[in-house]
Amino acid sequence: MAPQANIALVFGTDTGNTQEIGEKIAQALRSYGYSVDMMNVCDVTSVVLQQYRFLVMGIPTWDFGGIQEDWEDFEGDLQLTDLSQAVVALYGLGDQRGYGDYFVDAMGWLYERVLATGAQVIGHWPAEGYKVAASLALNESKTEFCGLAIDEDQQFELTDRRVATWVNQIVSEYECCALAS
Ligand SMILES: Cc1cc2nc3c(=O)[nH]c(=O)nc-3n(C[C@H](O)[C@H](O)[C@H](O)COP(=O)(O)O)c2cc1C
Repeated sequence: MAPQANIALVFGTDTGNTQEIGEKIAQALRSYGYSVDMMNVCDVTSVVLQQYRFLVMGIPTWDFGGIQEDWEDFEGDLQLTDLSQAVVALYGLGDQRGYGDYFVDAMGWLYERVLATGAQVIGHWPAEGYKVAASLALNESKTEFCGLAIDEDQQFELTDRRVATWVNQIVSEYECCALAS
């Protein structure tokens, strides 16, 4: 297998779940020959992010649709980041039973901000298999999320399969983008 580009996997977390899922995603990406640099959003800068052509970003939702605080602190820097040459895949963590009106809302928040950097966002994910009343991460027809939705509180038994399927999907999508450019 030819050596692949470096991927930045950037996560924010309050209680560790988003980091843990990030590690699973990174491990899966490495099995495709990519090298993955994992970083906590509280340690990154625009300059660092702009060095990558392929980024994965992970965010949990807190307190009725609230943004994880390190991502919130990074918002101003993200607005100044030019990712117009990059491809970004998003994943979000939430709890669909406890917060069914706000499920993974913060991923929807991040999606809007990442689009504004000029990045191409890949890795949209079907909404089938989730019970959600409302989510800012869903498209208008509520058929898909803007990234991988993970629910460690209610559906942890589905996580490994979801991660494996999604990583396979984003690798194919990224390779298509790379060929096209
Ligand atoms: C007080 C509290 C508020 C939460 N609010 C939301 C919410 O609004 N929407 C949601 O989808 N999940 C919500 N969750 C679930 C967390 O997003 C979930 O547990 C996640 O895995 C935490 O990720 P972290 O460990 O990376 O911080 C909440 C959990 C707690 C305990």
